[in-house]
Amino acid sequence: MPQWAYNSKQIGMKKINSLPRRVLIVIPTYNEAQNIKPLVAAIGNVFAGQKTYAADMLFVDDTSPDGTADIVRQLQGRNKHIYLLSGTKAGLGRAYVRGFEYGLGLGNYFAVVMMDADLSHDPAVIPSMLGQLEQGADYVIGSRYIKGGTTEYARHRQLNSMIANLVAKHFIDIKTNTKDLTAGFKAIRRTALETIPLRDIAASGYVFQVSLLYEFAKRGFVVREVPITFHERHHGVSKLGLHDILEFLRLTYSLNPQSRVRRMIRFATVGASGTLVNLAVLITLVNALHTEVMIAYAVALETSIISNFFLNHWFTFRSVREDNSPSLAAQIAKFGRYNLVALAGATIAWLIFSFCYKALGMWYVPADLLGIVASMSWNYWLSVRLVWRIIDTPPTDPEPHHELQEA
Ligand code: GDD
Ligand code: MN
Repeated sequence: MPQWAYNSKQIGMKKINSLPRRVLIVIPTYNEAQNIKPLVAAIGNVFAGQKTYAADMLFVDDTSPDGTADIVRQLQGRNKHIYLLSGTKAGLGRAYVRGFEYGLGLGNYFAVVMMDADLSHDPAVIPSMLGQLEQGADYVIGSRYIKGGTTEYARHRQLNSMIANLVAKHFIDIKTNTKDLTAGFKAIRRTALETIPLRDIAASGYVFQVSLLYEFAKRGFVVREVPITFHERHHGVSKLGLHDILEFLRLTYSLNPQSRVRRMIRFATVGASGTLVNLAVLITLVNALHTEVMIAYAVALETSIISNFFLNHWFTFRSVREDNSPSLAAQIAKFGRYNLVALAGATIAWLIFSFCYKALGMWYVPADLLGIVASMSWNYWLSVRLVWRIIDTPPTDPEPHHELQEA
């Protein structure tokens, strides 16, 4: 490369680097008329005098009846960094998808910020979230639940949010250490966002926040959290409704077909079917074929163990089965292991029943149930560990979170 070309490239590079990097803040609104002006002023303050970042704001309004869009239009007259996208009400998730698709076409942004319009999210945190993107993160969450993060809201909301996080964590069962899975304040690298098929995300409401996180974590993008204080809104009301809660449960449950919760439910379903098989065989042998009861009992037990094995093989642990194509000998060994585990499980149930009924003098029904629960847990645990040998890899995070909190 000739020296002049090299030089001009250097100069060009320098020029680009000294320009502020452009960021698009996407803000969904529904009846937030009173919050728009203070929010725009607060964002303006954060980015005024900023040399590193320049921000545009995109309000995605669903034709709010309180005239939110009129306030935005009013501000657009004085501020060329404000955009407005109007639509019909289809939920928070749909508003974000529309906002991303439209917004990415507005400029060559390096990052997109998602935030609420109700002043719950302090824009002063945005530069440190963007800083994490510069340091290699793809998806930065303004987190209420890591050290240094807090919430200002009332007890019942605190409880709701904690339950939602717990449900999300166990239902989607993804391999990140993320603490605030339902958070609505985020900074995302544009090039990462562009790899996500946004239209395929089924979430129309608030569960979109979790679904989006899942899409990123699933693809191995780097997810990090920075602590925030979540402020209670002063004007207007939350739009989170029953429809959002039901959608949240439905979608978080179905996001990850390989989650442990789903595996457990499949296993329990198979267990229930095994009980029916057991009863059917027992009754048939005793009543129709006049087999001796003790022999019929043993045959019924073994038949249900066999049917459970195949159902667990084809249904409960189907994802593991696809990974490796084991030899016939390995399959038989697996069946042998399952048989031993299940027989031991039946023994455990019997021992617990006898102990509770005979030694403790318990009523026979709860004694039976205790035995069933214990043997089911035993069967599940050992089926995972010993029979199908599933290794649940621990969360893989590039860095421990305590380092990030200082950022
Ligand atoms: N365009 C559009 N359409 N905007 C909406 C809609 C909608 O259907 N529903 C809500 N919004 C806007 C609101 O106007 C607000 O700016 C933002 O989305 C968040 O809505 P809130 O109703 O204030 O949500 P919240 O305070 O209950 O919940 C917040 O915290 C949750 C975690 O506890 C949000 O950040 C949630 O995303 C987050 O999951
Ligand atoms: Mn809110």
